Amino acid sequence: MADLTPTPVNPADRIIVPLDVPSREAAIALMDALPQVGFWKVGLELFVSAGPSILTALKERGKRIFLDLKFHDIPNTMAGACRAAGGYGVDLLTVHAPAGKAALMAAQAAVLEGAMASRDPAGTTTAPVSPPQIIAVTLLTSIQARALAFDLKVPLELPDYVLQMALLAQDAGLAGVVCSPQEAAPLRLTCGDDFLLVCPGVRPHWAAKGDQSRVLTPQQAIAAGASYLVIGRPITQAADPEIAFQRICDEIG
Ligand code: C5P
Repeated sequence: MADLTPTPVNPADRIIVPLDVPSREAAIALMDALPQVGFWKVGLELFVSAGPSILTALKERGKRIFLDLKFHDIPNTMAGACRAAGGYGVDLLTVHAPAGKAALMAAQAAVLEGAMASRDPAGTTTAPVSPPQIIAVTLLTSIQARALAFDLKVPLELPDYVLQMALLAQDAGLAGVVCSPQEAAPLRLTCGDDFLLVCPGVRPHWAAKGDQSRVLTPQQAIAAGASYLVIGRPITQAADPEIAFQRICDEIG
């Protein structure tokens, strides 16, 4: 398994910075401008535009990788995608919990298979890699209580729905969930200390909220039980990104 513990000792190890840029060139410029960041997130935009070779660029620099592709499909298709992703040697991989228990279990089994029979981006078989830990998106933080009830017709209160999705992920053998920091405390209590809680929606008091609505500060998110914080624009759009990153490390240290 990838070496991810719920409570890394070094504050810098708990911060994941998203490479929310549209091209390989922009991603490399960003990672090279912030050499002290050790854990980067590759999302759909960059992965679709740059392809898997962006993962090689990160690995060449010795970085940990959160591959945030949020798979959501039938078990057979989930297994196929996770088998391929399992061979990349990334640390974290996302799927959607509402794909269902059978699909989540298929995903978990498939990353192990993929890691054993790994291939480089050119398709050549390589030595086995560590499988990623799979974390499930419980409910997108862009979906508010009203949309859950009236658009998606889910008859549960939002916090209860998030909790049920986290328990489903845990029951299927996944390593943790992506959640709002405002949901972290009850999830930590119910799911235990070993369950990874990876939280976007984090804003230092000195940074703009942007389009994130339900935010906590880094310190509050860690106190609520977050294992990892995904923090983008407060660092990448800061006047001095290196100082912003260090300031957040100091605040949670
Ligand atoms: O710039 P900011 O700190 O808002 O970036 C947060 C990152 O976390 C973005 O890459 C965003 O897509 C991602 N994310 C999120 N909310 C979720 C899941 C992922 O903000 N529920």
